[in-house]
Amino acid sequence: MPIVDSWFVHQRPNPFYIPESPVYGDLPHNRMECIAGDFFQSVPSGADAYTPRMVIHDWGDSEAIAILRGVRAAMPPSSRLILIESVIPEGPDPSFFKFTDLAMMLIGGRERSAAEFRELYASTGFELEEIVPTPSPLNLIIGRPHA
Ligand SMILES: C[S@@+](CC[C@H](N)C(=O)[O-])C[C@H]1O[C@@H](n2cnc3c(N)ncnc32)[C@H](O)[C@@H]1O
Repeated sequence: MPIVDSWFVHQRPNPFYIPESPVYGDLPHNRMECIAGDFFQSVPSGADAYTPRMVIHDWGDSEAIAILRGVRAAMPPSSRLILIESVIPEGPDPSFFKFTDLAMMLIGGRERSAAEFRELYASTGFELEEIVPTPSPLNLIIGRPHA
């Protein structure tokens, strides 16, 4: 089962997460469960895939490295890291994501190019396998753990 960071994850997961709360509603699958936690402390272990969506762009490089190292430590060798993020195109051409990069900078985060994701993966024990575009502005940035 993949670890899915869903849209309803609360901004303050530890103090506010109450499984019975109507805020969380019914989970869409009986193999899903909500687990409260701080990804700087630990990440649930043993998942087939880890799919943080629009999480890493909230953070600068040192925090992003800490989060991904935590994922790397928690995952089995067969698992995949699938960041779901926008990817800034290389070069001087205008891009909406260069604008959102400026916006993320205001909160200490950043958007990243494919080369920057590759470097981030390499420095946290992953090999970037593939970047898969989707019909949305987001991409699946698929990495596997280095042996
Ligand atoms: C930009 S939101 C993205 C939410 C959701 N994945 C989405 O795509 O709509 C960033 C998420 O990171 C979570 N988050 C922030 N700091 C966290 C931490 N230390 N541990 C776990 N989750 C955290 C927030 O609760 C929030 O849900």
